[in-house]
Amino acid sequence: MVRSGFDVMEKGSVVNLVTSSDLAVQRFLVERLSVLLPGSGFLCEEDDLGDISHEYVWIIDPIDGTANYARGIQDCCVSVALSKDGEVVAGVVYSPWRGELYWAEKGAGAFLDGRPIKVSDRPFSDGILCTAMSAYRKDLAKTCYDIIFDIYMRSNDFRRFGSAAVELCMMAAGKIDLYFEMRLQPWDYAAAGLILSEAGGMSCGFDGNPLSLTSPSVTIAANNEVNLRELLDTVHRHMKELPY
Ligand code: IPD
Ligand code: CA
Ligand code: CA
Repeated sequence: MVRSGFDVMEKGSVVNLVTSSDLAVQRFLVERLSVLLPGSGFLCEEDDLGDISHEYVWIIDPIDGTANYARGIQDCCVSVALSKDGEVVAGVVYSPWRGELYWAEKGAGAFLDGRPIKVSDRPFSDGILCTAMSAYRKDLAKTCYDIIFDIYMRSNDFRRFGSAAVELCMMAAGKIDLYFEMRLQPWDYAAAGLILSEAGGMSCGFDGNPLSLTSPSVTIAANNEVNLRELLDTVHRHMKELPY
């Protein structure tokens, strides 16, 4: 199907889409970044590009929020992280429709359009949660619902914008405060996770350890450690073990 000059294809189901723009952005970035850093590897969402046996690896989501992009909804972005020996050292998230460029370098802070950003100091009770219902794994939706409901009843409100990277950057900029998603991939959070931590926030997986760069993760993030702990405890109340 052609919409507004790009093709939309399904990846196994009507929920999971890829557009010709995702593929073109990924091709462009791989071509240019290979020249910028010769010998680096790539972990990218599309085309099964996952060559991570290198000191430096680019972790790329060419469009995070493809379902939004395909419908002309403006919450989407390009997400690029650079890892060195398995640790993210730089991250860029660009949301063209919002006109926002977030970036961070390990130890050098986080920035939005060149200005330093930091997380909010809101308590859990005043927190806004960004979340999702596990669209690609609807078998996990009931558990998501229970966790979200539990958090919702003890916090201010929740939002679902449809781009994990944009949402984590919104937390870095102090706009939202709590985050839970059942199953994200490294390219969804690699860049935004660094931007968040450089802005003073924190994230973890189901076991409370840092988010994995090699496998999908339950993704929990918050503006501070107390709120992160509260989210993690809530997740554990509803889920005794990782369901995938
Ligand atoms: C998706 C978005 C969405 C999240 C999904 C992700 P995609 O990425 O980040 O917000 O709920 O879990 O897969 O598929 O648009 O790159
Ligand atoms: Ca994504
Ligand atoms: Ca994507």
